[in-house]
Amino acid sequence: MPQGSETQADGTEQAPGAEPGRTRRGLLIGAGIAGVAGLAAACGGSGDGDDAGGSDAGSGSSAGGGADGSGAALASAGEIPVGGGKVFEDAKVVVCQPRQGQFTAFSATCTHRGCSVGSVSGGTINCPCHGSKFKITDGSVVNPPADEPLKARKVTVQGDKIMLA
Ligand code: FES
Repeated sequence: MPQGSETQADGTEQAPGAEPGRTRRGLLIGAGIAGVAGLAAACGGSGDGDDAGGSDAGSGSSAGGGADGSGAALASAGEIPVGGGKVFEDAKVVVCQPRQGQFTAFSATCTHRGCSVGSVSGGTINCPCHGSKFKITDGSVVNPPADEPLKARKVTVQGDKIMLA
């Protein structure tokens, strides 16, 4: 197999090592694994993990930053019910307010199979696909089949505006 960029069936070019259809979540997980692999290498572990980690980190994960709505005002604080939350499908984020003035935010992508979570009620963020539920306080799993917490997102409150950091 020749090295360098590969042209795919649709005519687009892809960086070597990048996998078609790879999700942002996959990239983030890959980045985490790369960190672990780097640690293992520092401790004299095998170099097998370095190749995979290196290609993950170099496959252009920053391109989607703006598409997530980073830096944009998502909502006014008053739109987020105390003890509940709201799903922002365009920004793929769910913002909750477990207590008055305390805001939490998570990726709206379910960690089970990637559906968008659909609602917030009863202190949980709920996925309509297979029934997973996540705590509004920390995104941890309350009800399987998901077995990983929702990924945390950072929001700031500026005046009355909730901003995605
Ligand atoms: S994708 Fe959310 S529960 Fe399966």
